[in-house]
Amino acid sequence: MKFSINVDHVATLRNARGEVQPDPVTFALMAEQFGVDGIVVHLREDRRHINDRDVRLLRELITTKLDLEMAANDEIIKIACEIQPELATLVPEKRQELTTEGGLNVIDNLDYIKKTILTLHEYEIPVSLFVEPDINQIDAAVEINADIVEIHTGKYANALDEDDMYDELERIRQAAKHAKKLGLGVNAGHGLNYLNIKDFKVIEDIDEVSIGQAVIARAVFVGIEKAVKEMLELVK
Ligand code: PXP
Repeated sequence: MKFSINVDHVATLRNARGEVQPDPVTFALMAEQFGVDGIVVHLREDRRHINDRDVRLLRELITTKLDLEMAANDEIIKIACEIQPELATLVPEKRQELTTEGGLNVIDNLDYIKKTILTLHEYEIPVSLFVEPDINQIDAAVEINADIVEIHTGKYANALDEDDMYDELERIRQAAKHAKKLGLGVNAGHGLNYLNIKDFKVIEDIDEVSIGQAVIARAVFVGIEKAVKEMLELVK
């Protein structure tokens, strides 16, 4: 399993005071030095954390790969086509949410998402769709030519008891297996941390996890090197 780091919340901290530090680009470059497989940022419509300058600098400077998370929104699609990330991950986006709250409803938005995938493919950008571990959503992703699905692990991460946690883990396992069988790449993420990754990483068929909050939170206490290397050791 590969580990890409989401550095959005370094930018959240920077923006809290309207200063230039801590710089998410520097954090990303350091994380690369300590072995992560890729950098993930979500360029939101409201630019609440990552901004255009961050994305452009990351594009120029990182040496692993850039996964640009984005809503299927015209302005952001245009930026993606210019920047040409190694991967565009389409996520739902609501202004009021604290973080991405659920997976994309691919089935109900089939035509629009299909059109967005076509545009990104014209620019040779592979597309991942962030979906719940739901076989029907995965079938819809295949139908409109997505390259990858990122399975939403939020319910697993937030489960209040062990039964719910293992039920959700099983749903994720089945969804990942189904997606793989249909030829999709399979990523996963949201709410994964140093504890819940232990049961999670035994799931076969998941190529890569995208983790942000837990690693950035730990880096505040133990430093970027230790926080990144500890997670790498758990994931690999
Ligand atoms: N994957 C997606 C699609 C996300 O929206 C997020 C949160 O920005 C993550 C992964 C990472 O989640 P976390 O910060 O909880 O590790």
